[in-house]
Amino acid sequence: MSITPLFLVLITLHFTTSFSSTAQQTLNIHPQHYNPKLPARVFTTSNKFEGSSDLVHLRYHMGPVLSSPININIIWYGKWAPQQKLVIKDFLLSISANHREAVSPSVSDWWSTVSLYADQTNSNVSRSVLIAGEYVDHLYSQGTHLTRLTIQQVIANAVKSAPFPVNHKNGIYLILTSSDVTMQDFCRAVCGFHYFTFPSLVGYTLPYAWVGNSGKQCPEVCAYPFAVPGYMGKGGPGALTPPNGDVGVDGMISVIAHELAELASNPLVNAWYAGEDPTAPTEIGDLCEGLYGTGGGGGYIGQVMKDRVGRTFNLNGRRSRKFLVQWIWSPIMKACAGPNALD
Ligand SMILES: *[C@@H]1O[C@H](CO)[C@@H](O)[C@H](O)[C@H]1NC(C)=O
Repeated sequence: MSITPLFLVLITLHFTTSFSSTAQQTLNIHPQHYNPKLPARVFTTSNKFEGSSDLVHLRYHMGPVLSSPININIIWYGKWAPQQKLVIKDFLLSISANHREAVSPSVSDWWSTVSLYADQTNSNVSRSVLIAGEYVDHLYSQGTHLTRLTIQQVIANAVKSAPFPVNHKNGIYLILTSSDVTMQDFCRAVCGFHYFTFPSLVGYTLPYAWVGNSGKQCPEVCAYPFAVPGYMGKGGPGALTPPNGDVGVDGMISVIAHELAELASNPLVNAWYAGEDPTAPTEIGDLCEGLYGTGGGGGYIGQVMKDRVGRTFNLNGRRSRKFLVQWIWSPIMKACAGPNALD
């Protein structure tokens, strides 16, 4: 598949007509950089640290990171349109360093910050991420309201059903719920979370992450900045236009990215996190939530790009896809980092 790096090409069109032989018009299709100030999200799960900070004591707690190639098993829970699945799968498949087809700044460049995390065996988070399997739970096996416990039952069912492999060496499970599925604490306190399964429920200890489609329930919370709180009324800056035309799914991408980064660097919640309390760890994604580019903070999301039709993004993926993904805390810079940094 060939990629046309359209936005890297400055096309200058010279229009000469009989009416105006000197007329010259420049059509600049460079993506426009901008840093919109937006109304705050309804909640943030943690403080952000826009600049570098010595106050952040991110510590290593001796556990493993995901250092083998990361095999993602996706569980599609509820009703998913093929187009929605494609956007999410294109994002996941853009992470690997093998997928160099995307132009810079790319999703795979973004993951290089995550792969700076290593464990006590000097093994870094793997740069290789693949989709190992998919399981469709379109009959809502645990109903349309899930809890942290019933979600493990969803995984247990998926694990039992062939051809879904149990791969507790380097397999992780990504449970994605459709917009009609409610979840314990969804919209009020969480947009996604990661943990590991209990052997008593699932048979194995498997790292997993859950992310819900907030499109119909609380886009201003979980699909921010593609939806902003309504009470701001008119006159203020509106929501940004999602890069793949789907507020719920485009909003999920950054949450999936956040959870995968944390899952990879803290899969058993005993590796990389800040704070003293492992039941409420502040992890490498939490530290940079809501920050997408240089100059973010105080209501600004940072310098991101806008394409010709106004869709906002900061990373390129495979098949010319574009995504808006939050930055990640770098253990080297001791600051939030992303490949679209301007400085
Ligand atoms: C692996 O992690 C170490 C420690 O953070 C880092 O210095 C090194 O650059 C990482 N290697 C890669 C390939 O990311």
